[in-house]
Amino acid sequence: MNKTKIILDCDPGHDDAIAIMLAAKNPAIDLLGITVVAGNQTLEKTTVNALNVCQYLGLDVPVYKGCGQPMIRENQLIAADIHGESGLDGPVFAPLTKQMESKHAVLYMVDTLLASDGDITVVTTGPMTNLAMAMRLCPDIVPKIKEIVLMGGSYQLGNMTPAAEFNILVDADAAHVAFTSGRMLTMVGLDVTRKVLCLPSVMERMEKHQNSAGKLFVDLMRFFNMTQKEVFGWAGGPLHDPVTIAYLIDPTVLTTKTCFTQIDIRSEQSYGRTNCDIFNIFKKTPNSHVAVDIDVAKFWNIIETGILAYR
Ligand code: BDR
Ligand code: CA
Repeated sequence: MNKTKIILDCDPGHDDAIAIMLAAKNPAIDLLGITVVAGNQTLEKTTVNALNVCQYLGLDVPVYKGCGQPMIRENQLIAADIHGESGLDGPVFAPLTKQMESKHAVLYMVDTLLASDGDITVVTTGPMTNLAMAMRLCPDIVPKIKEIVLMGGSYQLGNMTPAAEFNILVDADAAHVAFTSGRMLTMVGLDVTRKVLCLPSVMERMEKHQNSAGKLFVDLMRFFNMTQKEVFGWAGGPLHDPVTIAYLIDPTVLTTKTCFTQIDIRSEQSYGRTNCDIFNIFKKTPNSHVAVDIDVAKFWNIIETGILAYR
């Protein structure tokens, strides 16, 4: 089987951690490297979190620390209300021995993509700063990217403002760079991730698997479900980020619409909104496949199989 090579750019983050877990052991995926960005917490914390997840799961994947603030905006937003003080509250990890690589994440992306045969997919599950910086630093990487799959945005409502989703709002300029790069993006937004709620029935199902991944899943989702209930009133937290990986494992998990998408980087009220021209009103060349529906049962089967891949 030809594995899909990916670079996973993330800001762990509970759902990012599960995306790492899912990507690292799936036979259809070759996880080349994890690049980290500030988002759910500061860069120091999200980097430690990525290392902790890898160490806990026994993953020999290189981790690269990237950008600690947005490209232009001075204000770094974090999501401590959802992910806690550490950015990954809930599980208790052993003392950290795994070390990050010395290369900057942006340089790793540039070097790896340039040296590739155009067969690497970039998955972003945090603010798109690292990818956008890499594109600006070395535009030659753009045609080398096989596919960009992002968790971010929404063609309906946001979660940070009525208009904007967190990953896009944190660094809307970076998202703008990616969406105007000329490369097609697959946008996995809140429209579908809000359909995969980690309800008590899901917790019960995954709790049966007492291996490392099953325990991590439950420890993470207990905390995440609690804060999601406090902040949004959900009966279970939406498992946003792993949908990107589930889509790469089995593209039929998502229904997408191909359309032109523009990031709002101008207005005050709707800053960070992903304006998806689903009805093709502007008649512009499409730059995105926007996820509009998800096969929920298939998604949870993929997550469960992902957990069972661990000892
Ligand atoms: C996104 O924001 C973060 O808090 C999550 O990790 C996810 O990537 C959802 O809006
Ligand atoms: Ca994330």
